[in-house]
Amino acid sequence: MLNRSRRLRSSALLRGMVRETRMSPDALIYPLFLQEGSDICQPIPSLPGQFHYSPDRVAAGVEQALEAGVNKFLLFGLPCHKDACGSEAYNDQGIVQQGLRAIRQAFGQQVYLVTDVCMCEYTSHGHCGILDGQTVDNDKTLEYLARIAVSHAQAGADMVAPSDMMDGRVLAIRQALDANGLQNTPILSYAVKYASSFYGPFRDAAGSAPSFGDRKTYQMDCHNWKEALKEAATDEQEGADLLMVKPALAYLDVIREVSRHTNLPLAAYSVSGEYAMIKAAAAQGLIDEYGVMCESAVSVFRAGADILITYYAKELAQAMRKGDIG
Ligand code: PBG
Repeated sequence: MLNRSRRLRSSALLRGMVRETRMSPDALIYPLFLQEGSDICQPIPSLPGQFHYSPDRVAAGVEQALEAGVNKFLLFGLPCHKDACGSEAYNDQGIVQQGLRAIRQAFGQQVYLVTDVCMCEYTSHGHCGILDGQTVDNDKTLEYLARIAVSHAQAGADMVAPSDMMDGRVLAIRQALDANGLQNTPILSYAVKYASSFYGPFRDAAGSAPSFGDRKTYQMDCHNWKEALKEAATDEQEGADLLMVKPALAYLDVIREVSRHTNLPLAAYSVSGEYAMIKAAAAQGLIDEYGVMCESAVSVFRAGADILITYYAKELAQAMRKGDIG
């Protein structure tokens, strides 16, 4: 005698109807790397299939995503010039600001543009804030982060996403946005961000590896999950509009816990190392890339995420359109 679950698996259409996890391309965000200069559309060696774009060439990358059904982007910038206080990050003519204007001019309101607010790509030492000796000065960094967020929003960012992990930055950014008439700009806080080896390929791609030490004093310890609830609650109180857990795959339990404790929309970031692992194993013929990509994405939504930031956004949107997932 077949049990009920078995009967519910008896046809593809029925399986589609009784799925417990629903996903849509609306919930995908695609990261894009903007590089200062012109005529650049350069493959990123550590992230096969991803490119560095100069502002004059980025429209092609956006267009491909739109064709696949993805209209939300997370922008990162690679400046020509770095200094101790990351001044290019809040330069009105900086790389992200230029990229925002170029994309907006080409696509108007068809696209939703989120910017990563951090300093590590812009500082000569590669840390996510202003240094005092060998350590990051939390409170001094806040005013810089606020300036960066305001500058991004003024250049056309629809949403800002602070990824630095300084304490108090959501409140500092909220106050600065409001003081500049940007009350409608939401903050997606990288609230639960672990100090992770999975960021390796990104740091190569963004040139943002710290020149000494690590990020363990400001990013979270992978042994902890209650701390994630504290971080999420603090950012929620400070005024975050959406929260994020990062990385995704090795932290599905954390996604589940945070999703149960917050009423805010929850994003998960399937980071560079997750993508690179699948790519590398697939290139060796060890796994089925499409299947593993789909299954990993489903697991993140099943765990409780509402939004997924992923380098596979285009391919996943197509898989959803075909009905393979979602
Ligand atoms: C900036 C930042 C990082 C990532 C997103 N924003 C790197 C880091 O914290 O070292 C990682 C994204 C990825 O690995 O795909 N602080």
